[in-house]
Amino acid sequence: MASQQQQQKGVDTDTMTLTRFVLTEQRKVPQATGELTQLLTAMCTAIKAVSTAVRKAGIAKLHGMAGGSNIQGEDQHKIDVIANKLFINMLKSSFTTCVLVSEENENIIEVETDKQGKYVVSFDPLDGSSNIDCLVSIGSIFSIVKKRSEGTPGLDDALQPGNQIVAAGYALYGSATMVMLSTGQGVNGFMLDPAIGEFLLTERNVKIKPRGKYYSINEGYSQYWDEATKEYVQNKKFPKEGNPYNARYIGSMVADVHRTVMYGGIFVYPAHKKAPKGKLRLLYECNPMAYIIEQAGGIASTGTQRVLDVVPESIHQRVPIVLGSPEDVNEYLDCVKKHQN
Ligand code: AHM
Ligand code: MG
Repeated sequence: MASQQQQQKGVDTDTMTLTRFVLTEQRKVPQATGELTQLLTAMCTAIKAVSTAVRKAGIAKLHGMAGGSNIQGEDQHKIDVIANKLFINMLKSSFTTCVLVSEENENIIEVETDKQGKYVVSFDPLDGSSNIDCLVSIGSIFSIVKKRSEGTPGLDDALQPGNQIVAAGYALYGSATMVMLSTGQGVNGFMLDPAIGEFLLTERNVKIKPRGKYYSINEGYSQYWDEATKEYVQNKKFPKEGNPYNARYIGSMVADVHRTVMYGGIFVYPAHKKAPKGKLRLLYECNPMAYIIEQAGGIASTGTQRVLDVVPESIHQRVPIVLGSPEDVNEYLDCVKKHQN
């Protein structure tokens, strides 16, 4: 008996894996068929494979450029291409998707008829390209909506606003690999246990602080900012009372947003003179992050409207974004309003 107890010491014999968690959550949804669980399982397999590729990229000579460029005209890294293929193959073969949108593909990806399911997935397979070769954290981002058209699935199904999202999340390849996920019932975080190859629940029902002490924006562009952004950042650095905020900007959206979710604060990628619509893409960067932030009790805005209410016109559309702790984001939005008048 004693030895049995010893064997169990330090080993959780009832672990809450991501799949188990989603299965339990989905049982509360009366119309659930299991298709979303199946999709998320495929997504996790892709994420695990990307995580492994990221971890061994230097050794396997996967750093460096692939030689091509994507629709944004950005050079593709070898590992960007691998991550994209992994996501596409896993999602197609899950029999749960009909249309895919990837940052790396100019057009929507139509899933073969015999493999089609009811979901549309938009994703950035590997975000934070500039940080890949120097081993700074990078990530994958995704959101899922249901096909809305009656007939053949197509572009119209991809161009749905974020308020139609049924699940979204991101994977962070940081000092550990972590998935933050929401299926509309709050946000939960799962850390990859490499020993068993499973994502285990480590952060239950994550809520963002009402106010943080970090501001996160690329200050290298400050000469191009509008007056509202200039004033907001100046106030964070030279507050009338209290301490200045700390600056944190990694240049990987997943890492910057994850810090914001965990510690509070504000992340801004504004429109500016050199990027009149901002840089970040609505469907597979801003919408999933806005969904997670809102589900955690925060705010995500373009500066003038809720991100999740923007009606997409094209799959690679960019929008300005400000997200994070409600008090911090509202302060920024007050600055915007003040300068509009
Ligand atoms: P990418 O999709 O080419 O990797 O670019 C997106 C990244 C985000 O992760 C990050 O927030 C932003 O670009 C940083 O841009 P900048 O270098 O202009 O500050
Ligand atoms: Mg990206």
